[in-house]
Amino acid sequence: MTATPDAAHAECLRVVRASGGALAWHVGCYDLVRSLLGDERLGLAHPVPRLASRMLNSPMVGPLDVTPEQERAQHDLMRQVMQTIASWRASQRLRHLVQRVVDEHVQRLADAPQPANFHQLVAEPLPRTVVGVVLGVPDDDHEHLGALIERTHDGADRHGASAAVSQLQDYMLQQLRERARSPREDLLTVLARADRSGQAAGTAAPPMQNLAALILIAGSITPTSVLDHGLVLLLNHPEQRALLDDEELAPGLIDEIVRVRSFVRPRPEANPPNGLSRYANTSFQLADAQINVGDLLILDTHTANYDENHFADPYDFDGRRPANPHLGFGYGRHRCPGANLARLELELLYRALFRRLPTLRLAVSPDRLLDEIRRDGGVVRTVPVVWD
Ligand code: HEM
Repeated sequence: MTATPDAAHAECLRVVRASGGALAWHVGCYDLVRSLLGDERLGLAHPVPRLASRMLNSPMVGPLDVTPEQERAQHDLMRQVMQTIASWRASQRLRHLVQRVVDEHVQRLADAPQPANFHQLVAEPLPRTVVGVVLGVPDDDHEHLGALIERTHDGADRHGASAAVSQLQDYMLQQLRERARSPREDLLTVLARADRSGQAAGTAAPPMQNLAALILIAGSITPTSVLDHGLVLLLNHPEQRALLDDEELAPGLIDEIVRVRSFVRPRPEANPPNGLSRYANTSFQLADAQINVGDLLILDTHTANYDENHFADPYDFDGRRPANPHLGFGYGRHRCPGANLARLELELLYRALFRRLPTLRLAVSPDRLLDEIRRDGGVVRTVPVVWD
């Protein structure tokens, strides 16, 4: 890892120590982050996974134990399966499913004693229920799966986190076997069919239970955090909330929430650095830096989303931006395949919430939330709210 970055690139590309202690390249400028997300010389696989540096101490954020070719096959298959969601969306089926889950959760909040914890009653259970319903997971299992999903991201207990990932995969294997015997109209059945046709064609498809578990985990964890921060943003900016009632303008507001991503003003010098992790699968020169095979690059989409060369007044929360090419859903090959489902979830939830509880407000000052976020490394677990 050698670099003598020139002044123009010093902010874009620098060597940092990731939370796992390893050295990594941190990339912060929009143009460079975007171009590297689309760069085939980088991937999620590492030539020797056990030697790979890690950005976080979580089994969900590390090198995939596959070759770059297997990574591509796995990826192609996932995109194909996730297309089903796009077709459900076109048929309005998805909207009905999400609306039902949203209404149940808003009702649960409205029935709760005040102050009520929005995080616990809505932000955490809603996304995992939505993705569970889309996959076709039985309702009775949602709570148990929720506890496992939480554990997969426990950075303090890597062993327990890996065990939770394995338990989720085993659970999915049972479900897939069941769908192979009696198909239904759900994503697990699509995965079970893809598995059967892959086997018939003799292709080395990745284990479907791993894909199913990945979809469940990815569809639960990130949206929870966005729902929490998005609510605080909307409570801090009541003038923006009117956009929710306009079906044409609401999508712009939702994308702005995903761009801003946090009601806390970002600190680029924040340590440890965060972003999307990638490994170099070949050596190459990047500006003045020599990137070597296996180097870890942290592509900081959050900092990139505040790049003033691409977003006018980037620190303003403005749902009426004429264009918002943010990288909050990633970019390139791994761009979030659940982005449209997530947008739908956010839009339907906030609209229903403010219609049902128009006087909703925080029960504590935003500074109290900030303290918790700083203490728990960016995570918020209590968002106490009250209403009249
Ligand atoms: C606001 C909510 C969400 C945000 C901000 C978000 C963000 C992202 C980002 C940035 C990536 C790219 C990761 C990378 O390049 O390494 C990603 C990937 C992914 N997301 Fe999401 N996501 C959200 C919701 C969802 C939902 C609801 C689902 C599932 C139904 C989902 C499923 C996935 C999957 C399966 C991947 C892996 C894609 C791949 O590797 O090709 N996400 N997401």
